[in-house]
Amino acid sequence: MGLRFGRSPKGLYEPVKYVLSLGGKRIRPVLMLMAYSLYKNNVDAILNQATGIEVYHNYTLLHDDLMDRAERRRGKLTVHKVWNDNVAILSGDAMLVLAYQYMAECPAEQLKAVMDLFSLTALEICEGQQMDMEFEQRKDVTEEEYLEMIRLKTSVLLAASLKIGALLGGASPEDASCLYDFGVNLGMAFQLKDDLLDVYGDARVFGKNIGGDIVCNKKTYLLIKAFERADREQLVALNKWVDADTFQPDEKIGAVTELYNQIGVRELCERLITGYTERAMRCLEALQVEADKKLELERLMRSLVHRES
Ligand code: IPE
Ligand code: IPE
Ligand code: MG
Ligand code: MG
Ligand code: MG
Repeated sequence: MGLRFGRSPKGLYEPVKYVLSLGGKRIRPVLMLMAYSLYKNNVDAILNQATGIEVYHNYTLLHDDLMDRAERRRGKLTVHKVWNDNVAILSGDAMLVLAYQYMAECPAEQLKAVMDLFSLTALEICEGQQMDMEFEQRKDVTEEEYLEMIRLKTSVLLAASLKIGALLGGASPEDASCLYDFGVNLGMAFQLKDDLLDVYGDARVFGKNIGGDIVCNKKTYLLIKAFERADREQLVALNKWVDADTFQPDEKIGAVTELYNQIGVRELCERLITGYTERAMRCLEALQVEADKKLELERLMRSLVHRES
């Protein structure tokens, strides 16, 4: 296959190599290969599409880190910190194009279905990311709006990875759709866990700075539930931090985390994660493949919802 990042100018491709060389869990290509291997054994045949989905995901990270002003990713400085904002934009753009090139290298028979799903998913992710940014400026975001936002920014990519694997493997439309729904539910649990780790994770393991969501007033499930369940005194304190224009980041992170602890939103979030995991299990059960073949997907899901990175 050969990776195509050796073109010039180097300034465009170095950041691409940098971010891809930092690893990451690679769960989207893994999900694609796992879905494919429910139906066919020659996973080598879809390595281009698996590469495409991971390059695409990494492109979203470059732009997401710029939008979130995040300083660390996978334990290293983000691209806009090592280089600058314009480099993150343009190298990200190049990665999006590269991702399309990889994805489109598939048999003519499946090309249209795969590219239609990939394009729709890419558009939905933009929609989710826009909602995520707009929510930073609002204090009345509902749980329902939050869930729709994370479905769009995160879940649909896990779902599409699985469905593309299924389509390429020749799954029935019913199975392809079950795998998509499994991915949506897994994705919801996955993003809720990401929001939890952003507050309660260990920066050295998580690879991102802790408290970034608190600093930006991201409307996470934790913050929405905290607003909803706070008593009068807690609400005053929460509003003070959310409205503050100038503050010491560590002080705000510490104070808001303490409010989360008092209000008990961590447990609520964990309960919702369990709920989505159970829904994902129902989708797996409906899949028309032998039970032992589903076990690997179940195991991967459980490892992701219990992850620390
Ligand atoms: C990070 O995705 C962005 C989210 C959707 C939470 P991952 O947690 O899969 O990041 P890497 O690829 O493993 O670094
Ligand atoms: C992830 O949202 C969504 C996308 C990258 C598209 P986050 O902003 O929570 O992701 P992290 O925490 O920076 O990885
Ligand atoms: Mg981010
Ligand atoms: Mg973000
Ligand atoms: Mg996050």
